[in-house]
Amino acid sequence: MATRTQIVAGNWKMNGSKSLIKEIAQAVAQKKNNAEVIIFPPAMLIEQAVSEGLSVGTQTVSEYEKGAFTGEIQALLAKELGATFTLVGHSERRAIYGESDNDVANKFAHAQASGLIPILCVGETEEERESNQTETVVARQLEAVIEKVGIAALANSVVAYEPVWAIGTGKTASPEQAQAVHKFIRNLLSEKDQQVASGLRILYGGSVNEENSESLFAQADIDGGLIGGASLKPQSFLAICNSAKG
Ligand code: 13P
Repeated sequence: MATRTQIVAGNWKMNGSKSLIKEIAQAVAQKKNNAEVIIFPPAMLIEQAVSEGLSVGTQTVSEYEKGAFTGEIQALLAKELGATFTLVGHSERRAIYGESDNDVANKFAHAQASGLIPILCVGETEEERESNQTETVVARQLEAVIEKVGIAALANSVVAYEPVWAIGTGKTASPEQAQAVHKFIRNLLSEKDQQVASGLRILYGGSVNEENSESLFAQADIDGGLIGGASLKPQSFLAICNSAKG
């Protein structure tokens, strides 16, 4: 099996401040392992976060290069400010802003073309899980991207499995539930390209906290986490980072 350095990523959503960037940078500096830490602050804080020594990404990105797209986040400018990653297809972007699988695929392609590493978020709603659609939904979301960019492009990306019912609800997927979906994702990709599949980092997101992170990160196909609420609390976030393997 390929060695995969674990990633602990903090998605601040529309929260945080300049002072919190400083506090998080100080906390992350105390990390005791080699896990990779990436912060996704609001776009306006990217430059400061980079200057504090953090590895940084945008929470979404426009699929267009430039032009009359008021309010959008431009990949090239994010890159110029020092961002190296971007989330694409977070469930809040899909549900609140109506991003389709095709939009997400276009954003993934444009992010890569601009030199940002995409973290592709996938995951089912509670209703979909209850009607046994988890694998169908996750496969559909992945296939839309693969169809657009080809399987080889996934070598330079990360996938985050975030069941919608576990986001911000305190209802974490159990390590076994999460591992089952991560394994499904890796197997699906393995049928297309074994090497890409075994090297790909697949993160779990959804109510990860300092109590449950270690058992999640210990699963064979879980390569770290995408953390929402707990990434806004420096000491909790540090504890989560320290619970990663690496
Ligand atoms: P919570 O950790 O707050 O559930 O959020 C997860 C998430 O959406 C990270 O992208």
